[in-house]
Amino acid sequence: MIVTTKQLFEVAYGKFAIGAYNINNAEQTMGLFRGNLDSQAPFIIQISKGARDYTDKRLLEGIIRAADEIFPDAIFAVHLDHGDEATCYDCIESGFYSSVMIDGSEHAIEENIAVTKRVVEAAHAKGISVEAELGKLGGVEEHVQVDEGSAFLTDPEDAERFVKESGCDSLACAIGTSHGAFKFSSGQGIHFDVLDEIKERLPGFPLVMHGSSSVPQEEVERINAAGGQLKGAKGVDPNQYLPAAKRGVTKINIDTDGRLVWTRVHREYFRDKPEAFDFRKPGIIFQDEYAKFIASRNELLGSADQLDAVRKAVQGGCCKCCCA
Ligand code: G3H
Ligand code: 13P
Ligand code: ZN
Repeated sequence: MIVTTKQLFEVAYGKFAIGAYNINNAEQTMGLFRGNLDSQAPFIIQISKGARDYTDKRLLEGIIRAADEIFPDAIFAVHLDHGDEATCYDCIESGFYSSVMIDGSEHAIEENIAVTKRVVEAAHAKGISVEAELGKLGGVEEHVQVDEGSAFLTDPEDAERFVKESGCDSLACAIGTSHGAFKFSSGQGIHFDVLDEIKERLPGFPLVMHGSSSVPQEEVERINAAGGQLKGAKGVDPNQYLPAAKRGVTKINIDTDGRLVWTRVHREYFRDKPEAFDFRKPGIIFQDEYAKFIASRNELLGSADQLDAVRKAVQGGCCKCCCA
């Protein structure tokens, strides 16, 4: 069942974080739905601009609609990840998305507020909520590389002004994480002090943590042992997801980790079976492994076993366990 992002946030705020996972194809979608159902977790499917171009946005939409039918117990929202203004309008018009992200973080704050405000007006007219971004994360995003020296953290005072003036529904804050597999190059971790200050100024307001992949060292070692060259790859300590959630982080974005699972499975498979060329064999292994990975992340996010609570909230008091 596709629900609004707002509904998920209302249940989660201050208690746990909703996992927001990027998808690009059918294999990821199958693993994602299975992993979330195995762990009984609500979730957010994220579609980036790159994903919409890779498989064609209509195909991705069709895959998600089909998955919704195949897994009728799943409860999730569909979100545009890192949208520009034109893509946000396209998603708002499509009627398929629960929420959009307008990423105006490359602009000065005034321009960021202006573009976010325009998107908010269009989205709210259709009952869609809007995530905005303030501050600048490092790492790779849409083929743009921002080195960590050029990244800057969200200023809590600016965050308060930004939310008030733009009317956005959630805010992606730069608090030290970065996109991709090479995080914390300067040795710094998540800036919980900055997060605390933002929460103090914006009590009850959903915050979003991008660049939250944990880059499991076991994955990196297995990839490298099978011919990869990911030297110095590092991620977020996943034991910090829940402490972040208690401070108002309601959505945690994870993409890179899924790519690592895909890379490990395929590198190992074709290394061990050089004669193989039926991609469905590693495709099945990937779906199983990705489902396991998703379930393990939901445990750490605190979203595991929250499906009934969310079902009850979205169905206005009824839940499967007592009303089915
Ligand atoms: O933040 C970026 C996401 O990981 C999406 O990546 O634009 O390569 O699909 P992508
Ligand atoms: P990772 O690169 O850490 O997975 O971050 C993903 C993300 O923030 C998507 O918006
Ligand atoms: Zn991001």
